[in-house]
Amino acid sequence: MSRRRQIYEGKAKILYEGPEPGTIIQYFKDDATAFNAQKKGTINGKGVINNRISEYVFTRLNHIGVPTHFIRRLNMREQLVRQVEIVPIEVVVRNVAAGSICTRLGLEEGEPLPHTLIEYCLKDDALGDPKVSEEEIACFNWAGSEEMADISSMAIRINDFLCGLFAAIDIRLVDFKLEFGRLWDGDFSRIILADEISPDGCRLWDMTTGEKLDKDRFRRDLGGEEEAYREVARRLGLLDGENGPGEVLDMAHHRGRLRGTVKKK
Ligand code: TMP
Repeated sequence: MSRRRQIYEGKAKILYEGPEPGTIIQYFKDDATAFNAQKKGTINGKGVINNRISEYVFTRLNHIGVPTHFIRRLNMREQLVRQVEIVPIEVVVRNVAAGSICTRLGLEEGEPLPHTLIEYCLKDDALGDPKVSEEEIACFNWAGSEEMADISSMAIRINDFLCGLFAAIDIRLVDFKLEFGRLWDGDFSRIILADEISPDGCRLWDMTTGEKLDKDRFRRDLGGEEEAYREVARRLGLLDGENGPGEVLDMAHHRGRLRGTVKKK
């Protein structure tokens, strides 16, 4: 078998040239990084789980009319997506105070925000992805004003939909990060959702216990990250495990496992 051409290797994914022009293969790695890659590790099986979760979420978003790059999942770790020109802005949507907004504004983690906030960060690892204003985005032409209108309205729509989707499985969607891309058609482009949606780029808290079911377990050395990611997939009905797809779990059992200290590789 001839080797595929690698286009790009990121922190959690590798992109390969797809089988047809205009397509890309996203390969999901088990590598995990935090704090602008100052902390590095592996979460066993994360790539497989994130591939499934992202497939599910993007498929549901496609069904409600949110345009996305997702075409289909190819295998355990790969999905076929449309090739886009990534807008160099990370879009963070926050419902509850957590993470950097707490440090920056002195808020207590878990405080519900008076209303949903959208933040923009420049995608630039060398600068540590700094927060930027809409004026700066316009000034440096990182995205046009019509593009920003599409991005912000899609981000709010995605948030509303995902809050409901996760609430139905007893998970609070605290915050998450989105990336968008330009899909070119001749001289014209339109904005579609790109990248992935998975516990790597979301804060997901168990609604009953407050337990963290996302990458904060890795960032904060809490342990149990593999179980946490699997738990999200299982509640979404995506795992054919011992409990069967979608079966309600014995949470007490899993809470015990989540509290346990799983050694970092
Ligand atoms: P923050 O509180 O660190 O700014 O993160 C907000 C949300 O965005 C959180 O769910 C994690 C996600 N995120 C990423 O996916 N990638 C990043 O590089 C950063 C900084 C945050």
